[in-house]
Amino acid sequence: MGKNLDALLKEERIFKPDEELVSNSNIKQWMDMHGIKNYDELLEKSAANPEWFWDEMARDLVWFEDYNEVLEWKAPHASWFLDGKFNIAYNALDRHIKSGRKNKLAYIWESEKGEVRKFTYFELYREVNRLANALKKMGIKKGDRVSIYLPMIPELPIAMLACARIGAVHSVVFSGFWAKAFQERAKDAQSKVAITADGFYRRGKLLKLKDTLDEVMEHIPSLEKVVVVKNTHCDLDMKKGRDVYWEEVIQNESMECSCEEMDSEDPLFILYTSGTTGKPKGVLHTHGGYAVGASTTLKFVFDIKDQDIWWCAADIGWITGHSYIVYAPLILGATSVMFEGTPDYPDPGRFWEIIEKYGVSIFYTAPTTIRLFMKYGEKWPQKYNMNTLRILGSVGEPINPEAWMWYHQHIGNRKCPIMDTWWQTETGMHLITPLPITPLKPGSAVKPFPTIKAEIKDDEGNTLTKGGGHLVIKNPWPAMFRTLFGEPERYVESYWSKFPDTYLSGDVARLDQDGYYWIQGREDDVLNVAGHRISTAEVESALVSHPSVVESAVVGKPDLLKGEEISAFVVLGEEYQADPQLKNELRDHVRKEIGPIASPSYIGFVDDLPKTRSGKIMRRVIKAKVKSEDVGDTSTLANPESVDALDRAI
Ligand code: WTA
Repeated sequence: MGKNLDALLKEERIFKPDEELVSNSNIKQWMDMHGIKNYDELLEKSAANPEWFWDEMARDLVWFEDYNEVLEWKAPHASWFLDGKFNIAYNALDRHIKSGRKNKLAYIWESEKGEVRKFTYFELYREVNRLANALKKMGIKKGDRVSIYLPMIPELPIAMLACARIGAVHSVVFSGFWAKAFQERAKDAQSKVAITADGFYRRGKLLKLKDTLDEVMEHIPSLEKVVVVKNTHCDLDMKKGRDVYWEEVIQNESMECSCEEMDSEDPLFILYTSGTTGKPKGVLHTHGGYAVGASTTLKFVFDIKDQDIWWCAADIGWITGHSYIVYAPLILGATSVMFEGTPDYPDPGRFWEIIEKYGVSIFYTAPTTIRLFMKYGEKWPQKYNMNTLRILGSVGEPINPEAWMWYHQHIGNRKCPIMDTWWQTETGMHLITPLPITPLKPGSAVKPFPTIKAEIKDDEGNTLTKGGGHLVIKNPWPAMFRTLFGEPERYVESYWSKFPDTYLSGDVARLDQDGYYWIQGREDDVLNVAGHRISTAEVESALVSHPSVVESAVVGKPDLLKGEEISAFVVLGEEYQADPQLKNELRDHVRKEIGPIASPSYIGFVDDLPKTRSGKIMRRVIKAKVKSEDVGDTSTLANPESVDALDRAI
């Protein structure tokens, strides 16, 4: 990180947007309609009257009954589009069926093995309705929770939309997480139904998803039914009365299902994300505001038009996929590519082959993927014709200028602007981001989206105009999360209590002389490993749940490819030997408890962890050691000798 940061501070290159792209862009056309002359005026006008801006945007969607008020803000609680009757699934499907987009492709899906399935809006609508009817038969009603544990197959968006349609609240759990993580999340959400698949292939290897659920099912008391997609047709045990096949339950269902009229503020989904304690946070989003925020940002930031082929190469198990593979592109009636596999399987040309094959025009991925491709070299993208590309995007972590330049040059052929979008599970939509009309600086997320009032603050709450500090947001936005499921106090305490009526993002950022934002990373004990949020506490508790581990401390170690890697220091019980075999066993254990992404790259055995006299682990000292930085003041340590022991363990 240190090295990246230095490079960022020296970055002075500016890339002006292409004039033709600007004049044809959705945002420019909207500005022209409202007599707005330039970017500065756009930001000023929208900041002066956010409700006017969002009211304009909401008018593009279909409301069963109009809202009476755009916003009610009783900090930290916002309600958007009050009394409006709405359903996001209706906006994603029904309204296209009634328009010229009925037979337009919604998804072009490709599996890891190269199979292709295509869905028009009409086909997708019918599949969603059939599952929605089946869920209703299982007793699922408005407000009930359904946990979804599916790989990147078309049944995943279908399941989400089916829930939304009948007013059920979906909670998708990333299929790369393992059973324990699913158990914890489904139990917390008190889900009645789980939707999963027999298995899926990852790098050619079969992973049996349903089997892992069988291990934990008895610990989720609320669970009544498990719907299983026959994806790989591998053998599995089906428990009578509880487990049913997707294909069988939808077989005789009608292709019509009425859409539940939801209140704008009714919950749409819960998505669990890592917080600073071990317990994941159940981030809750709603129908109305989320739909407006997600679709508006996709329309203006990525400039989606009817003829575009959009590819957001994220996993739907994360917020990026929820907002920009499922809901926003469908609301806009776009054609999306959906890809099940990994970027470099069977070879590092896979992504570029897909871009060529489908003529992708807008492509959105994460810096870690770009760095992976840099490692393989430009000979891979050079093999493919990617002339159809017009805009690129980046999300998940700061993009270092070298990666930005490589992406721009070798993928974007020096002509595609890169939208470096900063946002979070909690924000639901891009908050700090370029637009196709803004000049770009490699490594900067540019400025807040229209209406968003971002600031950088020091610890005392003073607003900074230079230097780094807490990145905060001063006003509400429609796609903001409304609470943490089941933990309303934690919502207030984690996000809104450090500075009054101000949203604390948990990131550190810096402003430059042009008012551009440079995001520098998390400031709390949340790691960002290859763009995935993982809490140190979660990994620590997984380690400690192994019989050999008495205590552990987990910190991030800067890594050129992944941003951060997980380093764990572990104190073993007396009867255990510190040997390499045990390290592997611990890695496996974390993999089973949370998932492969959380498995530590480094494990060091120590006799003791640096602690304060009150017994608190001094993470700051451990972090400094891992980064080979000066450990600073250690006078408050109860056991200074433990610091040198860290060195030996690394
Ligand atoms: C980081 C992902 C720098 C940041 C959408 C944030 C970024 C966390 C960027 C949220 C970006 C996301 N530049 N950092 N463009 N985008 N981040 O909830 O630390 O999975 O707090 O949402 O990712 O991760 P989450």
